[in-house]
Amino acid sequence: MELLRTPGEMRAWREAHPASLGLTPTMGYLHEGHLALVQRSLAENERSAASIFVNPAQFGPNEDFERYPRDEERDLRLLRELGVDAVYLPGVEAMYPEGYQTYVTVEGLSQGLEGGSRPVHFRGVATIVTKLLVAVRPDRAYFGKKDAQQLRVIRRLARDLDLPGEIVGCETVREADGLAMSSRNAYLTPEQRAAAVVLSRALAEGQARFAEGVRSAEVLRLIVSGTVGSEPLAELDYVSVADSETLAEIEGDIEGVALLSLAARLGAVRLIDNVTLGEGG
Ligand code: PAJ
Repeated sequence: MELLRTPGEMRAWREAHPASLGLTPTMGYLHEGHLALVQRSLAENERSAASIFVNPAQFGPNEDFERYPRDEERDLRLLRELGVDAVYLPGVEAMYPEGYQTYVTVEGLSQGLEGGSRPVHFRGVATIVTKLLVAVRPDRAYFGKKDAQQLRVIRRLARDLDLPGEIVGCETVREADGLAMSSRNAYLTPEQRAAAVVLSRALAEGQARFAEGVRSAEVLRLIVSGTVGSEPLAELDYVSVADSETLAEIEGDIEGVALLSLAARLGAVRLIDNVTLGEGG
């Protein structure tokens, strides 16, 4: 498994390996959710690469960039065991050298939901994903539906900037009790970890009521916020029922496919999750 630490090294490896290539971008501290993306890449491409880069540009000034969990040795062992061919591990100075001043902004899609709570987040995500796709030039790049808005922002930027390759969305991988896997789950105390199941439980309840015929977006938002509100350790940041494509909040009844999503805090730990209502995803 090759380790590449600069855009130049990455590009040179790609030029030397023209076979079909899948890329899984990550911020490391890998869990089963990340590894499911990598496994799909391994199954669908002749070669597979992963990237590990905790991207400072997507963290706000009061967010967890400094204390974001990191374990490069373990991550590399897991990727090597799966049979990944190359890992792109640039340092911050390689990605954002002195004088760096170019950012990619996806306008409409970045604004609500996570973008409402985290104003610079998607500018940072769109910038780093563009840089990764340009350096690696994968045939396919794998992203999780766990980060539903991020996936839509990335699909949009790839289309708008005519970036080659396919953006592949992969299902959310969950713990046995339903909690969506996330590197940030490592921050939770045992009590918070037990309480965090309320996020997926609230979404499942919304999904069940939708299946029973409830179509009012507002009623579904109230059902979800009521369930999260019943857990004293959880504080809801937002709950949204939005058009699955545009992410515009639905005011009346759901007609097509909708995205039911939420963000909540357990102490200082902010977690997100979502499900799709209706067909597709
Ligand atoms: P990170 O949070 O490390 O996630 C890397 C990829 O794994 C993302 O595409 C994310 O959606 C996916 N993922 C995370 N948890 C998942 C789960 N439980 N099931 C399925 N997929 C899951 O997302 C990022 O990093 C960054 O924003 C990045 C895209 C790498 C840009 O910096």
